[in-house]
Amino acid sequence: MLSLFRKKKHTWEPDRLPRHIAIIMDGNGRWAAKRALPRTAGHAAGAETFRRIATYCKDIGIEYLTIYAFSTENWKRPDGEVSKIMELLEKYLHEAIAKMERDKVKMKFLGDTTLLSPGLRALIAETQELSDKFDGVQVNICLNYGSRDEIMRAAEHYAEDMIAGRLSADKLTEEIFSNYMFSAGIPDPDMIIRPSGEVRLSNFLLWQSAYAELYFTDVLWPDFNERELDRAIISFQERDRRYGGIKK
Ligand code: FPP
Repeated sequence: MLSLFRKKKHTWEPDRLPRHIAIIMDGNGRWAAKRALPRTAGHAAGAETFRRIATYCKDIGIEYLTIYAFSTENWKRPDGEVSKIMELLEKYLHEAIAKMERDKVKMKFLGDTTLLSPGLRALIAETQELSDKFDGVQVNICLNYGSRDEIMRAAEHYAEDMIAGRLSADKLTEEIFSNYMFSAGIPDPDMIIRPSGEVRLSNFLLWQSAYAELYFTDVLWPDFNERELDRAIISFQERDRRYGGIKK
């Protein structure tokens, strides 16, 4: 009952923003179905939402934005849908390269990009190389990414380094293991947002989300906007992050 009368905050505090926000861009297909449009139109609308949200994150001072663009499981979708998503990504990367000097966004790609088309791989390499000199906001695009795959690869590479005698310390620590992840060098997400009403992580950042605040909303990704992100940030700021400790 009390919560009914609790005064709700309408804005967030700029000095307590999440440093790193990660988003599962879900609900594109349902958004399209509601409008009797093909699923691919939902992805196109979802790509637009991503542009808006990335700009907003940059404007308000979010340091890292990570998005789940294509999972290791998304190959199961019809060929036409997969090609459309790849096409949207190519279009976005062309734009990002063209605006690189103006926007100064650092871009990273998480996932096994070797299975992507040569054209997309070349664009990824170019984007990463050109954006490497920037150290402001960083956008991480998870592409052919799966968290279990990432953890297994990390274990494999660690074992290889161990067998080859390349490791100076023989005690495995969380910090050392983190450096074998696709996300090496990127701080863990403070908040993971999943729109569309699904309440699960779907193989996204399982290692990195250990202490992330999870935020779920029924809004479909193409309808997500700056106000929705404000709501998520307000919710984040209302949480008490204890990391297993007790309240001071
Ligand atoms: C999940 O919604 C969305 C995807 C699997 C693809 C997301 C890709 C894009 C938005 C396009 C490319 C991205 C960029 C950065 C330009 P869903 O299709 O599973 O939705 P549903 O659950 O309603 O069917």
